Amino acid sequence: MRWLLLLLIPFFIWQKVYKPEEVKQDGITLKQAAPFPLGASVAVKLLLGDSLYRQTVEREFSSLTSENALKMNRVHPAPDRYDWSGGDSIINFAHQTGKRMHGHTLVWHRSIPKWVESFQGDSLAWENLLKSHIQTVVKHYKGKVRSWDVVNEAIDNDGSLRKTIWSDHLGSDYVARCYQYAHEADPNALLFYNDFGQENNPLKATAIKAMLVDLKQRGIPIHGVGLQSHITIYHSNSKYRAGLKEMTSLGLLVHISELDIRLNRKKTKEFIPSIGMLEQQEEKYKDIVEIYKDVVPVKQRYGITIWNVGDKDSYVSDNCKCSDAPLPFDTNYKKKLAYKGLIEGLRE
Ligand code: XIL
Repeated sequence: MRWLLLLLIPFFIWQKVYKPEEVKQDGITLKQAAPFPLGASVAVKLLLGDSLYRQTVEREFSSLTSENALKMNRVHPAPDRYDWSGGDSIINFAHQTGKRMHGHTLVWHRSIPKWVESFQGDSLAWENLLKSHIQTVVKHYKGKVRSWDVVNEAIDNDGSLRKTIWSDHLGSDYVARCYQYAHEADPNALLFYNDFGQENNPLKATAIKAMLVDLKQRGIPIHGVGLQSHITIYHSNSKYRAGLKEMTSLGLLVHISELDIRLNRKKTKEFIPSIGMLEQQEEKYKDIVEIYKDVVPVKQRYGITIWNVGDKDSYVSDNCKCSDAPLPFDTNYKKKLAYKGLIEGLRE
């Protein structure tokens, strides 16, 4: 009997520590399980050049966000030149495969082209520059892009209006005008304000809410709010819930717009996730979906979008100069435990 136990104990330890629970690689897909649109941000290069990536995107998601292709430096590389190639590739793919298209992003303080950085002109010239950028892009995709992140990250962490090239040249009310310009260009497009940290920083969430209430009261055409949600497995559920509630109370559409859940809190260069961490990630993906379903009324659910598709194409590693594994698919686009967590959360 004893020898049997001696044999079995190491076996159980091995099962738990070294052998993660297998995740079934077939079965229901995310978009089938989801009672609302389920999206991913996509990169043109991979969509065109990596068939496994393309198949995964096609199979799993019902909504697409352009990761970089519609940012100003990509789409408007010179004063008189627009490059539609990247945006067109994603949007054509979305249409061919019956997916909703969310455009990201018309106005941001990053991804500014060089020619804008060195632009010289008075406030009217700056106003025309931004107005014509917004309207040219929105008109080009009129009727093809269902919704836009019009302004991204305009509020700073201390709750003040972020000091950017746009606020410097256009004054503190520039955000409102961006929405008016976009609405004139495509009155049917849904217009979102997108930002990060609402789920983490109550000061910032309150400031974002105040700005959006003000825009609504003034009749500015704004239809939705995005919470980026770049979080870690250590993020508190109650904090996430509180931030989401604050945004939902505006009565606008609510988009979890850039979800990913990091593991490597210390941001070390070398990092191998433990099974315990991958299980925590599974749980956290499930929690976030359940909190969304619990807090956001059906009519306000614009859906959940993850930022990138698999751990291979995640922006996180580049961004932190470290190694991490924040997404539901691994580096070979195999489903992780995190995928299972998402499915469990999504299923009614
Ligand atoms: C990131 C992209 O994923 C990267 O490829 C790029 O180098 C920088 O921008 N918040 C946003 C996104 O709103 O636009 C950012 O995307 C990630 C953080």
